[in-house]
Amino acid sequence: MNAASPEPLTSFLCTLDDIPDGGALEIAAEQAGAPGIVVLRRGDDAWAYRNVCPHFSIPLNYEPNTFWAYDAELLMCAHHSAMFRFEDGVCIDGPCQGAALTRVAIRIEQRNISALS
Ligand code: FES
Repeated sequence: MNAASPEPLTSFLCTLDDIPDGGALEIAAEQAGAPGIVVLRRGDDAWAYRNVCPHFSIPLNYEPNTFWAYDAELLMCAHHSAMFRFEDGVCIDGPCQGAALTRVAIRIEQRNISALS
């Protein structure tokens, strides 16, 4: 039997243009108590992670949709200043150095960003 691979299920998150270039956008969780998603953008590239800092397992921001990003390269946790690379979510400085954010697989098509499941 030679069945074709099914297409992965996707759920729309946002458009590239919803995210400030070099910054981040918060996508609230659909279920109360579940972690949201933070989507980072540099130009036409984007990366998505669970909005959970590996230091204390709390959101990276303490005000809604307010994130600190530097040089379109690093996202800083608002609590104890851990610095995470956009590309892989690895903490390169701060109290959880070497740990990483949990990646959310995404697809970008015609500037629409969808999460893959
Ligand atoms: S909770 Fe993020 S650095 Fe401490």
